[in-house]
Amino acid sequence: MIQKPKGTKDLLPEESFKWQEVENKLKKIFDSYNFKEIRVPVFEHTELFQRSVGETTDVVQKEMYTFEDKGGRSITLRPEGTAGVIRAYLENGMGSMPSPTKLWYNMAMYRYENVQKGRLREFHQIGAEIIGSSSYLADVEIILMANEIFKKLNIPNIKLTLNSIGCPKCRQEYQKVLKEFIGKNLEQYCDTCKSRFEKNPMRILDCKERKCKELNINAPKMIDYLCEECKEHFENVQETLKNLKLDYEINSSIVRGLDYYTKTVFEFIDETTSLTVLGGGRYDELVQELGGPKTSAIGFALGVERLMEMYKNEEEDKKPDLYILSAGQNENQKALELSQELRSKGYIIEKDICERSFGSQMKYSNKINARYLLVIGENELQSGKAKIKEMKTGVESEISLNLEEIIKAIEK
Ligand code: HAM
Repeated sequence: MIQKPKGTKDLLPEESFKWQEVENKLKKIFDSYNFKEIRVPVFEHTELFQRSVGETTDVVQKEMYTFEDKGGRSITLRPEGTAGVIRAYLENGMGSMPSPTKLWYNMAMYRYENVQKGRLREFHQIGAEIIGSSSYLADVEIILMANEIFKKLNIPNIKLTLNSIGCPKCRQEYQKVLKEFIGKNLEQYCDTCKSRFEKNPMRILDCKERKCKELNINAPKMIDYLCEECKEHFENVQETLKNLKLDYEINSSIVRGLDYYTKTVFEFIDETTSLTVLGGGRYDELVQELGGPKTSAIGFALGVERLMEMYKNEEEDKKPDLYILSAGQNENQKALELSQELRSKGYIIEKDICERSFGSQMKYSNKINARYLLVIGENELQSGKAKIKEMKTGVESEISLNLEEIIKAIEK
């Protein structure tokens, strides 16, 4: 038997119902902040991710599903959503629409990762982006919206962690100091870190190798080298969150794994597993990097699979309102007509589509937990009267075989 590729998951009906519940709740949150949905292609030109996520990141160096298509183009399955969204924003002239533009998405992502708990190769992100505001108020709005997700889904043990990783201006000074620090022990770092030393030393702080992590423990922190503007921006974010009584922790070692970030970065951590469920931040240079005008932006994405591990669904999947049991051509025809009319009125109706016996239909209607059972046999068709049974109580009543009477019975 052919099995699914490593790092992928099948979503069976029981779980897909739970996903729908979460998706519906999140859509309501996004609506309330007036974010609009965007859908972008599963694959993009590889260059898009090289230019945005960054050549020296793990995502681009190690994790992308990249292939040459039949036309000889280098194509990559999206490893994240922001790059495609900004590409679409620019390509479709969305910059000329009222600004800021507020978008959300729910999309599958692909990363060739070491598969482990909470780390898949095909996974889903629900994300949001505000494009066109440099104000700290946009940071606050996006963090508040992210926080509301956990509140509305009743997910406990979530911690908000914040950091600022500055702008290209203050980063220059910081990188000098960081290189001095790393340079002292460069020989002891892994080969990937060594290769990142000249081009992008900050990525070394992001290395998952145990040895490199140890060497980085006392590395200088970006937060201590912020320029006046970045400092003020970050203070404003913090002060507003404090006024709103939103708890957070500063974690000066958050660097995020993607190169486009500037200023505020944040992660919502599951305190039970220490996994990051939601991550995001400001990216004020990306629109320009991708060929657009200088445009500030901020956003986040949450890992849906990680969220689902923590979410307890509140409702149960809907059961069929009625199973119409019938056998014989005319009886089946009647069952079909009634089913279609009831379905068009919003009821969930099941009927035989396998030409099974009465007995097997009865068993099936039990297994699928139909609320009511209506039997249409030869006698019922002739007399125009039929029995309808409430499955839970076993109580039966006789009704006229028409729509109004059936609805009256199942609405009881
Ligand atoms: P990210 O931190 O790479 O950010 O991913 C966001 C979230 O996706 C993570 O916090 C995690 O929950 C989930 N995730 C990432 N990789 C995997 C995986 N292999 N398996 C399961 N879940 C995973 C971004 O992707 C940015 N685009 C977020 C963003 C939007 N920043 C600004 N706007």
